[in-house]
Amino acid sequence: MSQDNLKKAVAEAAVKFIRPKLEKDTVIGVGTGSTANCFIDALAAIKDEFNGTVASSEASAKRLQGHGIKVHELNQIDQLAFYVDGADEANERLELIKGGGGALTREKIVAAVADLFICIADDSKLVPLLGTFPLPVEVIPMARSHVAREIVSLGGKPVYRNGFVTDNGNIILDIHHMDIGRPIKVEEALNHITGVVCNGLFARRPADKLFLAGPEGVRILG
Ligand code: 5RP
Repeated sequence: MSQDNLKKAVAEAAVKFIRPKLEKDTVIGVGTGSTANCFIDALAAIKDEFNGTVASSEASAKRLQGHGIKVHELNQIDQLAFYVDGADEANERLELIKGGGGALTREKIVAAVADLFICIADDSKLVPLLGTFPLPVEVIPMARSHVAREIVSLGGKPVYRNGFVTDNGNIILDIHHMDIGRPIKVEEALNHITGVVCNGLFARRPADKLFLAGPEGVRILG
């Protein structure tokens, strides 16, 4: 099966999982990226069965609205039943690297609010050790050099994502060759650098469920 078909299969499995739990007032958090796009497309078929969504990026909001799915401001919402999003890497503890699409900060905010965080991915994203995929860090533009030096002192190699501006008006540094043997420690150390808005390690708040699509079907961890 192609990677595109695996993404569609896992997105459909997530819709099938949440569908019986939906109520008329349920709000769903929606992530960003090609797998999240498949989820948005699958969600469109049942858009009358829930209240609406909160999007983790302008791009996802636009796609949701294109399907006629309501998009709420997070601040207007008291409870978010689910957050469904992809990942760049996941381990068996359901800790993730996210932010390949640059939406990590809003993704982490929406994940923090959600009752149940469902990560959807094709099974190539499951790794024994996080860190082969460069770890994205969102940074206030004027702090770029300072943050880069601090990352080097932590043992990583920061690479400026050229020409990319986040939905929040910031820049991204992608960290290569970082030892992420202890993901919570690394997430916290990066958060403590002045000028860092957010980093793409989801370890303090990992996913609650990881749906993985492979040639034999979709399996669920968690
Ligand atoms: C965007 C993300 C995505 O979830 C991540 O990059 C995976 O994307 P894709 O589903 O296209 O592989 O974190 O910021």
